[in-house]
Amino acid sequence: MTAVRFERVGIAFGSRSILSGVSLDIADGEFVGVLGPNGAGKTTLMRAILGLVRPTEGAIAVLGGPARRGNPGVGYLPQMHRSAPGAGFSGWDLVASSAGGGRWGWPGTSAAERRDIERALDLTDARDLARRPVGELSGGQRQRLLLAQALVGRPRLLLLDEPLISLDPSRQRSTVELVRRLRHEQPVTVLFSAHEINPLLGAIDRVLYLGNGAAALGTVDEVITSPVLSRLYAADIDVVRLGGRIFVMAGGHDIERAEHRHDA
Ligand SMILES: Nc1ncnc2c1ncn2[C@@H]1O[C@H](COP(=O)(O)OP(=O)(O)OP(=O)(O)O)[C@@H](O)[C@H]1O
Ligand SMILES: [Mg+2]
Repeated sequence: MTAVRFERVGIAFGSRSILSGVSLDIADGEFVGVLGPNGAGKTTLMRAILGLVRPTEGAIAVLGGPARRGNPGVGYLPQMHRSAPGAGFSGWDLVASSAGGGRWGWPGTSAAERRDIERALDLTDARDLARRPVGELSGGQRQRLLLAQALVGRPRLLLLDEPLISLDPSRQRSTVELVRRLRHEQPVTVLFSAHEINPLLGAIDRVLYLGNGAAALGTVDEVITSPVLSRLYAADIDVVRLGGRIFVMAGGHDIERAEHRHDA
């Protein structure tokens, strides 16, 4: 079955077009890396799959039905934002807040929901963090709890928006590995956005690269090429492979790195 299908999708905010004429199929169980420069539409694409942004043209199907808000089959890790929940809000509260299909999961969390939350905390190695106030945690620790939150309810489709932001390289690797391993334990389709392809190499099945209103979906070898990326960046792009890593260069600069500035 198809987990996500875009049929000639256009998305615009007012007169500003973000995506135009995008058609793509993501199969059940695929692990797809979502890349593209700042503002390319990675977050918007995920929010459209969640039914939070309506396409201005075309149609989006998710897990066999039209994209709609509150679909319990979809787990979401939003892109990091600075605001921390108030005092007294523990890591457990954060993870539990998505139990039971989106309602605040306490104090009436059922035994089955508690077991599911514990399973998500174990998967993300976050049991110790669950006992601490969220306001005290580092950005990376909070990110791990948010990943646990996205896993509550055993979603069939996981949308992870920049889960590697503010993680050190070893945590980046363990997060990608965790997602890869998760797919062996439960059938799940994953869209995982990142600002650099390298941490995802060897783990993803395909890459969805956005830029210039368009999208390219294919294997790393098909998409991370000079002609495809030159079209998406609207610039002359060189793709340099070195020591098992890939560098996307424009005018001698690594633009996947240089273009990405997040304040998180
Ligand atoms: N609700 C909104 N109203 C108006 N414009 C929006 C809205 N949401 C996003 N945009 C615009 O849509 C474009 C795509 O934004 P989006 O957040 O999807 O990019 P992104 O690829 O996730 O970027 P980043 O790498 O910085 O996270 C940007 O130009 C952004 O300003
Ligand atoms: Mg984004």
